[in-house]
Amino acid sequence: MAINLRGRNFLTLMDFTQKEIRYMLDLAHDLKSKKRLGIRNESLKGKNIVLLFEKSSTRTRCAFEVAALDEGAHVTFLDSNSSQMNKKESLEDTAKVLGRFYDGIEYRGYEQSVVENLAKHAGVPVWNGLTDVDHPTQILADMMTIEEHISKPLKDIKIAFVGDTRNNMAYAWMYGCAKMGMNFVGFGPKELHPDIDKEEGLLEACKKSGATIEFCSEASEIKNADVIYTDVWAGMGEEDKLKERVELLAPYTVTMDMLKEIGTEDCIFMHCLPAFHDFETGAAKKAKDEMGLDIREVTDGVFRSKHSVVFDEAENRMHTIKSVMVATL
Ligand code: CP
Ligand code: NVA
Repeated sequence: MAINLRGRNFLTLMDFTQKEIRYMLDLAHDLKSKKRLGIRNESLKGKNIVLLFEKSSTRTRCAFEVAALDEGAHVTFLDSNSSQMNKKESLEDTAKVLGRFYDGIEYRGYEQSVVENLAKHAGVPVWNGLTDVDHPTQILADMMTIEEHISKPLKDIKIAFVGDTRNNMAYAWMYGCAKMGMNFVGFGPKELHPDIDKEEGLLEACKKSGATIEFCSEASEIKNADVIYTDVWAGMGEEDKLKERVELLAPYTVTMDMLKEIGTEDCIFMHCLPAFHDFETGAAKKAKDEMGLDIREVTDGVFRSKHSVVFDEAENRMHTIKSVMVATL
């Protein structure tokens, strides 16, 4: 049966079948080739989309804006200070109003229930641009990047997610792996291993697709990972947890030695970005100078090495977000 995602929300990959995810990935590859060839589709001509950001962003915001403009849509950006949402107007009323003006709504913020509520009341597709527990557009970009760099089907890929194995990126990857039959190994301190039995539908999805999800704390327990993935140790809104996280996660800094021990010879290094790989950012410098903390989750050597595909990954945010909008609008 032909895949038709028109009118669908994009809140988590758990809401999609493997074939539907395959469809969005194929569309993204196609849209990327077309952009390279200078072919304009204008498949969103006449559409209006709104971007709601309660947390900051470079890639996600710009990806939505460029993707929409490439396809002929018009964009409005609202941050948490510039709308009435959650101040003088409830989420439900905001969703109902925006649904009258716009053809699609992107939301980035805290609880997943907010994006779910928007979707319940808006009457137009709502896209999740990151919450505390998920980041599904990032996973599409990551899968696309893996397909560009490793000539094996996704189901044969082993990904080692290093660090905080229960943050939004770790969960987003578990959902993605479960759907696409991939092999996920969460590599980090036991204290941060999640209880995945409590995750509704996750183990059933793994059973159906042949995916595996495991956790370990020792590098010697992982061999031949195709992808070494990491993320910041304290995400947006978790900055007060920095000290305790550094204490737990310092042994899990991604180094060249770690890559050699747990990865294949030509493994790729991935990171959703922004990354702490040196002390050139205000946050890394401040943590070092004021608290004596080294918050780098990856060394500069790995970040800049031939294994690193982080900027291809960043570019693919745009092509995959375009695919999600084109497919659902
Ligand atoms: N990876 C990602 O979501 O980046 P931004 O926070 O810059 O959007
Ligand atoms: N875990 C990070 C991801 C940023 C894209 C955060 O939530 O801040």
